[in-house]
Amino acid sequence: MPASQGALGKLVVVGQGYVGLPLAMRAIDVGWAVVGLDVDEHRVKHLNEGESYVEDVPSALLLAAIESGRYHASVDPAACADFDVAVITVPTPLRDGAPDLSFIEEGTATIARYLRPGATVVLESTTYPGTTEELVSPVLEAGSGLTAGVDFHLGYSPERIDPGNRTHGLVSTPKVVSGIDAASLVAVQRFYDSIVDTTVPVSNPKVAEMTKLLENTFRHVNIALVNELAMFASDLGVDVWEAIDAASTKPFGFMRFTPGPGVGGHCLPIDPSYLSWRVKRLLGQQFRLIELANDVNDHMPDFVVQRLVLALNRNRQAVNGSRILLLGLAYKANTSDDRQSPAVVIADRLLALGAQVRAADPHVLDDHTDGRVVRVVATAEEVAAADAVLLLADHDSFDLDVVFNSARFVLDTRHRLPPGPQVEYL
Ligand SMILES: NC(=O)c1ccc[n+]([C@@H]2O[C@H](COP(=O)([O-])OP(=O)(O)OC[C@H]3O[C@@H](n4cnc5c(N)ncnc54)[C@H](O)[C@@H]3O)[C@@H](O)[C@H]2O)c1
Repeated sequence: MPASQGALGKLVVVGQGYVGLPLAMRAIDVGWAVVGLDVDEHRVKHLNEGESYVEDVPSALLLAAIESGRYHASVDPAACADFDVAVITVPTPLRDGAPDLSFIEEGTATIARYLRPGATVVLESTTYPGTTEELVSPVLEAGSGLTAGVDFHLGYSPERIDPGNRTHGLVSTPKVVSGIDAASLVAVQRFYDSIVDTTVPVSNPKVAEMTKLLENTFRHVNIALVNELAMFASDLGVDVWEAIDAASTKPFGFMRFTPGPGVGGHCLPIDPSYLSWRVKRLLGQQFRLIELANDVNDHMPDFVVQRLVLALNRNRQAVNGSRILLLGLAYKANTSDDRQSPAVVIADRLLALGAQVRAADPHVLDDHTDGRVVRVVATAEEVAAADAVLLLADHDSFDLDVVFNSARFVLDTRHRLPPGPQVEYL
């Protein structure tokens, strides 16, 4: 068998982003030949040159995959020809508050043209229950002339990847799998058994789709709970962080979540709204907990700015004209992902108030920032020159001793600094 064919067969991963690229790399590892299909020419060019932009995939790993002869990225749909398995990992954003499934539709239509009898298609993009059967299946059938469940296998398997998480990765995190019928489930499970340690079969794609939304809604609601608690605790003069630490000693019935400057990334600000939209559309009901959590979490950047205003005010300073240093533009630690990042909202608010905004983030590309935000490195001089520092994303690469020792005032939204007269927590 030629090296380019892979012992397990040919896999197409549609979308080479935070989800698709790690999956492609793992599949290479275990013996698949992989085409990483993407519509972004720039991204594909960099991938084929061995340059990874996803932290969880070091460029050396990508280079090794290319050198194996079993991986290449492509914008050419013809590269999908003769696939055995195709996995769809394209974005599922909101457009005007409603799910935008156009990426799924386009990606599916592309592979439909190359679908052969016996092949397996899996959707991984996060979406509302019903998408696999009501959208993906008809698009595949229309584009291929084949019948789902009769001629080809189809299923849904949510991705649980947590970029930057060094404890739980793709392989060790159990993967929920589903199929539109018994044979599809067998095919989908067989594929993921080659990729991850543990697969968890469920009875149909709707359950698998709901599982992912349940997981993310659970996080979203619990983060909103501690965020709202943090706002009240601050007014009540209670240290919310100490209370959370104490509550976390309970070995049952409590799960630790911590406050922060707001939620970001591709998941929490979006996925729960897929569920509430579906409930509203099909049942005419409001998913009140989701609406409430959106409301609280969306308010956090304003709360951070308000706390900063109060702190400066105590020193008879205005935000207008003050030099504010933001530490972290990504939505969380150790990732370059700045999509929907609260730091970006905070920067906007501060700019609107007339602050001189400077920002340090070694992960986020310079051209991702508003041109009025001056990008800097968090040196002792830079930190000392700021009227106030906001610690927003606690990247490991920040030298927190430097921040603690040099800053005049820090609002630490992640509770990473030791107590000190210059430190305030969210
Ligand atoms: N990022 C995460 O942590 C995470 C975790 C779990 C699930 N998810 C879900 O996985 C899905 C993908 O998220 P992501 O973070 O990898 O997105 P991403 O933006 O990083 O990557 C998606 C890629 O798909 C490409 N694409 C768009 N349309 C395409 C098409 N028609 N054909 C081929 N490629 C196309 C884009 O160019 C992009 O490179 C989303 O539904 C997301 O909610 C993301």
